[in-house]
Amino acid sequence: MAKTWFITGTSSGFGKDLAIRLAKQGDVNVVATARRPETLSYLDEFDNGQILKAQLDVTKPEEIKTAVEAAIDKFGAIDVLDNNAGLGYFSTFEEGTDADIKKMFDVNVFGLINVTKEVLPIMRKQDSGIIMGLSSVLGQVGLPSLSYYAGTKFAVEGMYEALQKELSKTNIKVMLIEPSGFRTDWAGRSSNKTSTKLPEVYGDVQAGIDAVGNGDEPGDPKKAAEIIVKTVEKDEELPFRLPLGQASVEGTEAKLKADLAEIEKMHDQAVSADFQD
Ligand SMILES: NC(=O)c1ccc[n+]([C@@H]2O[C@H](COP(=O)([O-])OP(=O)(O)OC[C@H]3O[C@@H](n4cnc5c(N)ncnc54)[C@H](OP(=O)(O)O)[C@@H]3O)[C@@H](O)[C@H]2O)c1
Repeated sequence: MAKTWFITGTSSGFGKDLAIRLAKQGDVNVVATARRPETLSYLDEFDNGQILKAQLDVTKPEEIKTAVEAAIDKFGAIDVLDNNAGLGYFSTFEEGTDADIKKMFDVNVFGLINVTKEVLPIMRKQDSGIIMGLSSVLGQVGLPSLSYYAGTKFAVEGMYEALQKELSKTNIKVMLIEPSGFRTDWAGRSSNKTSTKLPEVYGDVQAGIDAVGNGDEPGDPKKAAEIIVKTVEKDEELPFRLPLGQASVEGTEAKLKADLAEIEKMHDQAVSADFQD
């Protein structure tokens, strides 16, 4: 039976390129969801009955329910869930606004939680499925100007690491996708930015904010889509973390090596804090 993919945030970027890649393949079902389904007309030329376009704002529980029900009504299963929808927010930690922080956590964290919780019972009944979370290299490494964004992606990483272990008695797998900078709308229209009023302290952080959103990111989202599809096809070898982009894999390698060196120095002292009986 044809596999069914359910993808959030397919109006642009990674979600759109993945939806096109799968739609062109023809032998998989694609549930392409977006806040504004009218943005999904790019799929029409590939539609042979294997595509369902659905309205889904991941911050609206009733839309999550309706879109998931529509997917089951049409295709009878959800085999791969891609929690792709996400926002960015650039600011110093000190000056980040509550409204911007909450807006991003609502989409990147609570949206992902709610979509995952709606689909999980279906996958449990099937006793099969792959749950993917669009994390980021910022889910491994915190960087200046992206403290709150890293907070959302570290949250996703921690939750999915635990979820993967909770599901160890099932045939449901979990995978985190960790891109570095890719040429999508993320750093442009999908990211609010708060400029610093303290350039004497945060001038370097502001320079980082000013440098983003110019469309010169090294990552190609079409190549990412190809790697994601190929990785899912090799189901048996599904990794838990899928880094994408040189800055992702090398940034994570450097961070993990530095963390390991530091933690090894602390080993004996840490153990000494336990009761010794
Ligand atoms: N591009 C990068 O460098 C990069 C790197 C690492 C991770 N990521 C992650 O990749 C994911 C996809 O982003 P992208 O890079 O492809 O950027 P993008 O082109 O801006 O796409 C973001 C998508 O999320 C959707 N979205 C935003 N809020 C939503 C909501 N409340 N409900 C449903 N959909 C919503 C947007 O839909 P609208 O058209 O309605 O706004 C859009 O389709 C995000 O999770 C992002 O954090 C991106």
